[in-house]
Amino acid sequence: MSERIAVITGAADGIGWAMAQVFAEAGYRVALADLDLENAKERAAGLGYGHQALPVDVSDEQAVVALAAKVGETFGHVDALVNNAGISDSHLPTLEQDVGQFQRVMDVHLKGTFLMCREFGRLMTARQQGAIVNISSIAGLGGMPRRNGYGAAKAGIVALTRSLACEWARYGVRVNAIAPGYVATGLVRSLAEAGKIDIGKIERRVPLGRLAEPEDIALSAFFLVSPAAAYITGTVLSVDGGWHAFGDFGDASLGKERQT
Ligand SMILES: NC(=O)c1ccc[n+]([C@@H]2O[C@H](COP(=O)([O-])OP(=O)(O)OC[C@H]3O[C@@H](n4cnc5c(N)ncnc54)[C@H](O)[C@@H]3O)[C@@H](O)[C@H]2O)c1
Repeated sequence: MSERIAVITGAADGIGWAMAQVFAEAGYRVALADLDLENAKERAAGLGYGHQALPVDVSDEQAVVALAAKVGETFGHVDALVNNAGISDSHLPTLEQDVGQFQRVMDVHLKGTFLMCREFGRLMTARQQGAIVNISSIAGLGGMPRRNGYGAAKAGIVALTRSLACEWARYGVRVNAIAPGYVATGLVRSLAEAGKIDIGKIERRVPLGRLAEPEDIALSAFFLVSPAAAYITGTVLSVDGGWHAFGDFGDASLGKERQT
């Protein structure tokens, strides 16, 4: 059996880095594709022999085309692609939002996911094998004030996922999405430090009473590309501690207080 190859975008930090570790531990050779090449190199070296850091801005068509060519040349094929790279939005009231920021969020998340799927889809459909996981968000499934560009991009990723799943099923390529709730990463910590989100309130809004750990999302992505998910395509897996399921008024849990 040939080696299993995974390409993970945004793998230099946060959820993507947790994914790189989970896939590497399971025997995959991982291409850590990130805008931050220095950090990605350090991470790849930390994973040991056979893993590679590759530069990419997922919103740049030429860069994504070059990445797919480089991966094809280096590894020969790709079994799993996780489109995880992302940026936060401004969190400003909509009336104060700048169209440039709105566009950048759309470009990185939605255009980036499209470009990555298109270029790596070429390799996978030609080989009649492969699995793609796109990272959406609770913001793509429900309305969140001020988060219109991010929510639209993440909802677009859900639509793209379903469309590609239906188009590429005949080529043996499965395409799914994960909609994480709030995850304890640098991105979320910086929003909390800037006073844009309140971690205690978020924990109480989650039935399971805590933020996700990056590993929670990584293990779900690993499941979706694995043979255990062979009959799953075009789905959106909520990995949110019950956030999306909760429809009652008030808090859903005691949050961290539960543990004291
Ligand atoms: N953290 C959360 O609470 C949360 C919740 C739901 C969804 N998500 C999504 O999960 C994904 C990862 O989020 P995270 O919290 O780990 O973020 P993070 O900021 O910790 O890491 C993001 C990584 O993506 C890279 N990146 C950013 N722009 C890029 C680009 N244009 N091209 C290539 N790489 C780029 C960064 O360099 C970084 O290494 C994002 O798509 C995010 O929207 C996060």
